[in-house]
Amino acid sequence: MKKYNIAIVGATGLVGQEIIKILEARSFPAGNVYPYSSGRSAGSRAFINHNEVVVRAVTPESFRQVDIALFAAGAEVSLYYSPIAKASGALVIDSGTAFRMYREVPLIVPEVNAQDIKNHNGIIASPNSATIQLVTALYPLHKVNPIKRIIMATYESVSGSGAAAMNELTTQTKAVLEGRNVIPHIYHHQIAFNVFPEIDVFLDDGYTREEWKIIEETRKILHTEEIAISVTCVRAPVYIGYSEAVNIEFTSPMSPDEAKNILSMARGIKVLDDPSVSLYPQPWPAAGSNDIFVGRIRKDVSHPNGLVMWIVTDNLRKGGALNSIQIAEEMINNGWL
Ligand SMILES: NC(=O)c1ccc[n+]([C@@H]2O[C@H](COP(=O)([O-])OP(=O)(O)OC[C@H]3O[C@@H](n4cnc5c(N)ncnc54)[C@H](OP(=O)(O)O)[C@@H]3O)[C@@H](O)[C@H]2O)c1
Repeated sequence: MKKYNIAIVGATGLVGQEIIKILEARSFPAGNVYPYSSGRSAGSRAFINHNEVVVRAVTPESFRQVDIALFAAGAEVSLYYSPIAKASGALVIDSGTAFRMYREVPLIVPEVNAQDIKNHNGIIASPNSATIQLVTALYPLHKVNPIKRIIMATYESVSGSGAAAMNELTTQTKAVLEGRNVIPHIYHHQIAFNVFPEIDVFLDDGYTREEWKIIEETRKILHTEEIAISVTCVRAPVYIGYSEAVNIEFTSPMSPDEAKNILSMARGIKVLDDPSVSLYPQPWPAAGSNDIFVGRIRKDVSHPNGLVMWIVTDNLRKGGALNSIQIAEEMINNGWL
């Protein structure tokens, strides 16, 4: 089988480290794997497929021998280096925000719109974590009963803001327990023992950019401008795992049992739903798993065509690293690379 040389830009970050683990766990047909970071982590070591590899600072020369460049280093790095990687002949798969809404860049969740990959022009984007778990869980239902409206709230872990935010939650938690003052650095407010409805910046309409990302990305992936969506994004003092409370209005009624049956058979979804034994998805047990977990599936008593559900996944895995790797696998398996 052909092997593919891979660059991981952001290899020392939370998503980059998951990329390394998942490539190995899935026996991805990797040839040489080149881990890149900024100058800060250059010279550190990464273990890739049981070999110790030195992490280097990314430069314009980093992509010369590369077939697939997986970017997980933030929008600025992607905007600068992706065109260079593409010009060097590498396929770019970007997990950040840089290109997601570009018309010529496919925005892909393989379980939903893998066919859109064919329209790529050298760069493919992976959506926001919160969008990935939403569309993966809703698409199988949408196919049989088109969705008209979604009202949802997210409960997003601090790892969504990168490694520094996880450290901040630890430091603040210790400070509160020891009765010391907390001074927030990453967020505007204390995150330990707190939640706040602010993720990314506020826009003129009162929504945040994170909320608009979910709305616009969902419509792009599902190929419809017709679905009405309103989102409130909340940061929660959780290390890993995004949770979503989602109210869905379908075109016609759908029973909870029908939704459970459809979701039980859907790729990448696990239904955990038995209130009698308090069984429902939670971020702590979801961390480290590749699945998207759905539970609390019930009638929305406020609308005859409505359902409510609770969706949880590991934001670093299916919400980030895994989705990018699945895009590469889809390319290889279909002979598109
Ligand atoms: N966290 C999530 O839940 C999640 C989910 C989906 C997508 N994403 C996207 O994935 C990307 C990374 O997120 P993360 O949470 O993994 O962040 P992170 O933990 O803060 O890691 C950032 C990585 O980028 C590298 N980096 C930063 N500036 C750089 C530069 N100028 N040149 C080269 N490398 C640079 C860092 O290297 P150093 O070690 O040298 O600083 C580190 O490897 C972001 O675009 C984010 O939007 C994140």
